[in-house]
Amino acid sequence: MRLDVVSIFPGYLAPLDLSLIGKARRDGLLDLHVHDLRDFTTDRHRTVDDSPFGGGAGMVMKPEPWAAALDHVVQDGTTDDAPVPHLLVPGPGGVPFTQAMAHALAAEPWLAFACGRYEGLDERVYDHAAERMPLTVVSLGDYVLNGGEVAVLAMVEAVGRLLPGVVGNAESLVEESHEGGLLEYPVYTRPASWDDSGTVREVPPVLLSGDHAAIAAWRHEQRVARTAARRPDLAAASATVAGLDDLDVR
Ligand code: ADE
Repeated sequence: MRLDVVSIFPGYLAPLDLSLIGKARRDGLLDLHVHDLRDFTTDRHRTVDDSPFGGGAGMVMKPEPWAAALDHVVQDGTTDDAPVPHLLVPGPGGVPFTQAMAHALAAEPWLAFACGRYEGLDERVYDHAAERMPLTVVSLGDYVLNGGEVAVLAMVEAVGRLLPGVVGNAESLVEESHEGGLLEYPVYTRPASWDDSGTVREVPPVLLSGDHAAIAAWRHEQRVARTAARRPDLAAASATVAGLDDLDVR
């Protein structure tokens, strides 16, 4: 998969060199290109923002550098199989980024991310881009970040780890939070009995029983109970599809 990120802080994307995503890049599974928006300015000061028409607080990102940067990304990466990228613009006003969206994006050959700062991009940048490539404005959640870079780190990790070969044990992807509409069950490792400075904390006995059916049933119950307690919005949705009415947790 090819990824392009345009930002005025390319250094913000440095963590994508680390851990499993960094390894995926070195293994050739992810082809990441980070671009500095200021390289697409034409003035001496490399200006990327200006005050908003109509007044108001803050600054707006100028359209010309964005159009030049996005045109460059398309020109640089186009192939017969992927003539244009799917452009994702992180912002608090976007559609919610979900695990389902991560799966859908993981099936695409080429993603580009436009990281806005300040009060956002001049609206005409969206018009320019949408005439050339599919475009989605995506929000990580109902809170406001200073810019799109942190959201891109999260989205690249969520999408990248779904690509074949990125996470060594593909099975570990299956029972995670948000797969199957439920949160993950609690996990334990040795010691089975832990003396925590005088308080003895035991691993649930079923996990030591060797009874795989009982363990699977216990884990499923835990997922349902956790989801009901922490994310009742998800529990309601999954109860209707998964026939969870028998379990007394809602
Ligand atoms: N940029 C600023 N706030 C954001 C959010 N909540 N999600 C994605 N990108 C953002």
